[in-house]
Amino acid sequence: MTERAAVILAAGQGTRMRSPTPKVLHKVGGRTLLDRAIDAAEALGCARIVVVAGPHSPQVAAHARGRLGEAGVVFQETPLGTGHAVRAAEGALADFAGDVLVAYADTPLLDAEAVAPLFDARERGADLAVLGFYAADPGAYGRLILGEGETLDRIVEAKDASADELRIAACNSGVLAGPAALLFTLLREVRNDNAKGEYYLTDVVGLARDQGMKVSAVFAAESRVLGVNAQGELAAAEAAFQASRRASALAEGVSMPAPDTVMFAYDTVLEPGVLVEPYVVFAPGVTVRSGAVIRAFSHLEGAEVAAGAIVGPYARLRPGARIGVGAHVGNFVEIKQARLEEGVKVNHLSYIGDGSIGARTNVGAGTIFCNYDGFDKFQTHIGADAFIGSNTALVAPVRVGAGAMTGSGSVITKDVPDNALALGRAPQVEKRGWAAQFRNLKRQGQIQKDKDQT
Ligand code: UD1
Ligand code: CA
Repeated sequence: MTERAAVILAAGQGTRMRSPTPKVLHKVGGRTLLDRAIDAAEALGCARIVVVAGPHSPQVAAHARGRLGEAGVVFQETPLGTGHAVRAAEGALADFAGDVLVAYADTPLLDAEAVAPLFDARERGADLAVLGFYAADPGAYGRLILGEGETLDRIVEAKDASADELRIAACNSGVLAGPAALLFTLLREVRNDNAKGEYYLTDVVGLARDQGMKVSAVFAAESRVLGVNAQGELAAAEAAFQASRRASALAEGVSMPAPDTVMFAYDTVLEPGVLVEPYVVFAPGVTVRSGAVIRAFSHLEGAEVAAGAIVGPYARLRPGARIGVGAHVGNFVEIKQARLEEGVKVNHLSYIGDGSIGARTNVGAGTIFCNYDGFDKFQTHIGADAFIGSNTALVAPVRVGAGAMTGSGSVITKDVPDNALALGRAPQVEKRGWAAQFRNLKRQGQIQKDKDQT
């Protein structure tokens, strides 16, 4: 296989988003547009990936650097067009002799499968290959002027197109591939005498054809190449992503009576035989094993749910929650950085943060792991077969032994030995007749007040 590199363009201003967040750091399926573009390039086996960033959004450069290192980021000082932007990567790829894939970072649904046909076209002998699509509403997309077979003669930008050309439905996705040397040679010839006064990457097609080279267009589904320029398009991309994830989960044997109300992240793993009730949100990093049930209105992030467990309704699993086989996590329970072993029950109104609960232990309503003193976090560990009374506050660091019990309403500040009962609450006192006496006094006072007023 010819070696591959990718140039990902992310130096545009993204002004149409009207957002303080740079366009390519917005997310679809919980993953930034920029990371999605990098994911696709990695999946295609690109040995080198260069992101072209603009000096106006240092966050984009920092984000790319965090993932690809210093060599993975170059700057386009002024955004003079997509062709100009690709040239910014020339130095970084000076010693690279393979194929370069150019992709825009604002095309979030693009994946390796959609792009692969470009490389097939290269293998069939195309000097350059461009990924196109047929648009339902071609709008502002560049139009493909096709010749015989899969030959592409040139690309005309919408702003420069004639009325006839604007009627063409074949559009440019912005993704193309060709040998590094050829691409950078052609880019040097691109001029900016057009409607936008920009150096268009798309002009390399016409230039290559003028020199008798073979340029091919291959096509992807429109849903894969949707470009994001404004918030409405970001929402449309999210909707398309969700629709496809829901469909694949159903096809893989996940039960979802109301799939349209379930939100997935890019990396959600639901095994066949999982049941997801309505209105569940999967933020990134969730795995749910076969036979588990995620009940309505639950929110999960960075969590693992083992086979046969029941989570929710109205549960919140935060990063580091590990729910064991057959364990139950009920309504208004929040779990963070904590492991629940097999068969644990935490059914009502509790906070379990930083610690562990041993197998079969029952945690009563309103139990709180008091894990934070305003500066540091501390651990709480409960052994197997224990029983935590309702409204127990466990002040970390603390351990409750296997088989131990705590009395309801206890504040537990010291370790509890195995099989002991710990009571950490004020002893109860009774005052006989006190309540009746109190009511009498109050009533007499009220009668006197009413008399004074009349
Ligand atoms: C571009 C294509 C158009 C195609 C459409 C697909 C050109 C000239 N036009 O139009 O044919 O149908 O994408 O979505 O290529 N960027 C830079 N530096 C610049 C300008 C842009 O890095 O100077 C980056 C942007 O950050 C963005 C990408 O290139 O990620 C595309 O730029 P954008 O302005 O969105 O191009 P479109 O008008 O959408
Ligand atoms: Ca665009």
